[in-house]
Amino acid sequence: MVATPRGTRALGGPRQAVLEVIPAAVVRCEGPEIVFVGTRREHDRSFQPPAQILNAEGGTVIPGFVDPHTHLPFAGYREGEFDRRLAGESYAEIAASGGGIVSTVAATRRATPAELLRLTLHRLDVQLRCGTTTTEAKSGYGLDLENEIKQLQVLREAGSQHPVEIVPTAMPAHEIPPEWRHDPDGYVEAVIREIHPAIAGERLAEQVDVFCERGVFTPDQTRRLLDDAPRLGWRIHLHADELCDLGGGALAAEVGAAAASHLLHTSREGIAAMAQAGVIAIILPGVSFFLRDRFAPVRDFVNAGVPVAVATDCNPGSSHTESMAAVIALACLGAGLSSDEALVAATLNAAAALGRAERIGSLEAGKQADAVVLDAPSPKHLAYHFGVNLVRHVVKAGRVVVRDGARV
Ligand code: NIG
Ligand code: FE
Repeated sequence: MVATPRGTRALGGPRQAVLEVIPAAVVRCEGPEIVFVGTRREHDRSFQPPAQILNAEGGTVIPGFVDPHTHLPFAGYREGEFDRRLAGESYAEIAASGGGIVSTVAATRRATPAELLRLTLHRLDVQLRCGTTTTEAKSGYGLDLENEIKQLQVLREAGSQHPVEIVPTAMPAHEIPPEWRHDPDGYVEAVIREIHPAIAGERLAEQVDVFCERGVFTPDQTRRLLDDAPRLGWRIHLHADELCDLGGGALAAEVGAAAASHLLHTSREGIAAMAQAGVIAIILPGVSFFLRDRFAPVRDFVNAGVPVAVATDCNPGSSHTESMAAVIALACLGAGLSSDEALVAATLNAAAALGRAERIGSLEAGKQADAVVLDAPSPKHLAYHFGVNLVRHVVKAGRVVVRDGARV
């Protein structure tokens, strides 16, 4: 069976749930491209037998997952915090006591480029074996010129070595670094005058992101930080309304963001503004689960016609997973998407959030051949058969890169 959304744009409202399902199907690739998707009978009428066949017998073929929000190039783990949180301390309390993002910043600054590259390549391997063929990845654990550039150079190198396509995002405005705590506006100025232009000058990013949150960057600082994005050629993503409603949804609409992430506390007005401006809502149900917090109001987004995408937010503090299937299960069981809506969220809508819906995110003639064969009789098993890796094979740009669960 093949199950795929269709089209080259994000799907919102009732279309969020529309999948094409073709039993006894064939996906035919030539080079990096899909040239046919349809029934075997149609295929055999129009094509010669192919040179090579990848067996999907009894399985389901879906588009490769697109993970539109990760913090991949980090060093150090925070499993100690995990138990402190289970014992009752909050994420904010742990951050205030020197843990949290700044502890990952310290470890990432200490890491050599070679160490950071090894860690990143390993995470890309895990992603690929879990069916992700394109991933966003951001800086934001460097928080100074040298270390932000280091993280982004590691991403560039990793992308040149690994089949998973990386969409790099500049995020020096992920947190106020310890050395600027006394003068947050000074750091904002340094990012605007020095760090963003240097990253753009080396063409190390295609998107920019800011953590707009109480105690981090205010809406006004966020506006200033994003002012130059169009001139630098950057698509805008925002971390918005994660811990409280700061008007992040409306701000994303105002600054012309392609997508906003988290959105646990976004108001009705914010949702309406996003719908109006065509901002995609990237939900991160792994964070809600991991921090034992509420889930984003996905039904309100769908009802308002805002296309919903889902991402892992892979990072060491608030959602330590590379698995899109894991967050699909949580998007359904925690947030309340249907399994069909969640698959669209993890493929076409995620591709659209990264400006790639023309090329990836669905299985259709003319798109790049990024496909996953699941060991499951329907795509509903992604959420329904949770906690295991159902990925049998992965094809990236027409090449088999995972066969029977193992990297080729
Ligand atoms: O997306 N919200 C901000 N940043 C990350 C968490 C980073 C961390 O805890 O290291 C997030 O959840
Ligand atoms: Fe994040």
